[in-house]
Amino acid sequence: MTLMNPATSLLSVEGVFAGYGGGDIVKNVTINIAEREIAVLLGPNGAGKSTLLKAIMRLVPRRAGRVEVRGADVSQWATERLIAHGVAYVPQLRNVFPALTVLENLEMGGYSMRSGVRERADEMLELFPNLRAASRRAASTLSGGERNLLALARGLMPGPAALLVDEPTAGLSPQYEEVVWSQLELIRNTGVAILVVEQNVATALEHADTAYVLVLGETRLTGRAEDLKGDDTLTSLYIGGEG
Ligand SMILES: Nc1ncnc2c1ncn2[C@@H]1O[C@H](COP(=O)(O)OP(=O)(O)O)[C@@H](O)[C@H]1O
Ligand SMILES: [Mg+2]
Repeated sequence: MTLMNPATSLLSVEGVFAGYGGGDIVKNVTINIAEREIAVLLGPNGAGKSTLLKAIMRLVPRRAGRVEVRGADVSQWATERLIAHGVAYVPQLRNVFPALTVLENLEMGGYSMRSGVRERADEMLELFPNLRAASRRAASTLSGGERNLLALARGLMPGPAALLVDEPTAGLSPQYEEVVWSQLELIRNTGVAILVVEQNVATALEHADTAYVLVLGETRLTGRAEDLKGDDTLTSLYIGGEG
């Protein structure tokens, strides 16, 4: 695992400032993620985690900063072009199409692909056994956890190099949280660089390689996940309710 070495990073975010027009919500954030690395984005509610992911995707305006994917400066690229270049984004509100089956939802995720959509959907069903069992069912019949997996699998349809995923375990049972994390690890093992927002600090540090802690839009703490376990500053951010 490489840590914070821009030379080898697949996704790098440098000095990003972003907001909704009334002052910066994200301030000077720098993140570097290598191939096969899971970086977790932690921080209290309202810290700016979701805003940062949206800013990377250019769904929220960036005032300053640079974004690179596989060494290419993509800072000025529009959202659709970023997706086509291999950046997948799974938002916090996972809008699966409820009336469509699991398989049809996956096929929708391949809308930008020229060919091989059905084959890729089959690959996704192999990677996600919980979805394979439900492939012909309408998404509306899925559990919350299965729906999160479907949103992940749909985002992976075009074979992205980097995956940004916002709170994929929110509202799930501890057992299903583990299922989601196991899937993220399998995805990582296919070579994808992952940036994941997670509320559960202990679980996140157990599974991620690196961690970034945002407080009031700024990076308060960063390092290898294993080194941050039991870190007093990190604990106090949550217990103290700061931010
Ligand atoms: N669409 C929006 N317009 C204006 N402010 C927003 C919008 N979405 C979020 N914010 C504000 O940005 C800050 C960070 O929110 P968010 O990025 O959702 O935090 P987190 O994901 O860390 O909980 C909050 O103060 C929130 O109120
Ligand atoms: Mg959020």
